[in-house]
Amino acid sequence: MSIWEISEHKGGALTPRLDKRLSMVAELIEPNRIFVDVGTDHAYLPAFMVITGYSPFAVASDVRIGPLENARATVRKYGVEDKVQIILSDGLDEIDGDFVQEVVIAGMGGELMCEIIDRAEWLKCKEKALVLQPMTHAEDLRRYLTQNGFSIVKENAVTDGGRAYCAMRAVYSGEVKEHGEAYFYIGELLSGDITEDIELYIKGILKRLKFKADALKDKPEFEGEARRLYMLLDEISGLALKDLP
Ligand SMILES: C[S@@+](CC[C@H](N)C(=O)[O-])C[C@H]1O[C@@H](n2cnc3c(N)ncnc32)[C@H](O)[C@@H]1O
Repeated sequence: MSIWEISEHKGGALTPRLDKRLSMVAELIEPNRIFVDVGTDHAYLPAFMVITGYSPFAVASDVRIGPLENARATVRKYGVEDKVQIILSDGLDEIDGDFVQEVVIAGMGGELMCEIIDRAEWLKCKEKALVLQPMTHAEDLRRYLTQNGFSIVKENAVTDGGRAYCAMRAVYSGEVKEHGEAYFYIGELLSGDITEDIELYIKGILKRLKFKADALKDKPEFEGEARRLYMLLDEISGLALKDLP
């Protein structure tokens, strides 16, 4: 049974119900590992993971007191105070890098994620993994990761409430791989099973890029940028057409 199905069945009294986006994130966390959920807000993900036994222990952290109060209420409601530690922390600044094995950051902008990762030198370790679900600037996050020795090993996308979301799992390899610009937009989304949601996510990217290029093409000062965007569109379409049904 997938995490999404478990969440559908058990949601309510026994576990918090994860929506499709958070279920996708949960599926990218390796079972039996201790993880920190940075920017946890209600701590639904840590509570779900320890209640279902996917994770033995989780740290729920946030930079603001209000969300940590929400986290505390969830942890108390589900009786998992002994399995979820709540920590006030700006990014990973107060997190013990020797203790956590996986770092989850979901529901924030990609640029903020880059800043958080960049400040935590201990992430440059082959035993740790990152699970990231950027709401914006996913291309900047992929660029940052691959140019700083992290490899994206798995990605997925879902649509929920008319919005498409992506999430990725990355590990430190120390290798800086060269990638074309198109890679930063689609990452590893075409590497596994291509679901209808992945197709929708990629079509959304193509639509956004085309909209931007069309808006710039008649302005002489942005002609070069428009040309670059059309070339990028062709490159992404080429890759996608090869793989999309
Ligand atoms: C939109 S909520 C996402 C909640 C949950 N992670 C999810 O994906 O549903 C973003 C949360 O990130 C927190 N946040 C923002 N900047 C942060 C930072 N630098 N360090 C830790 N938490 C941060 C906010 O306080 C907020 O609770």
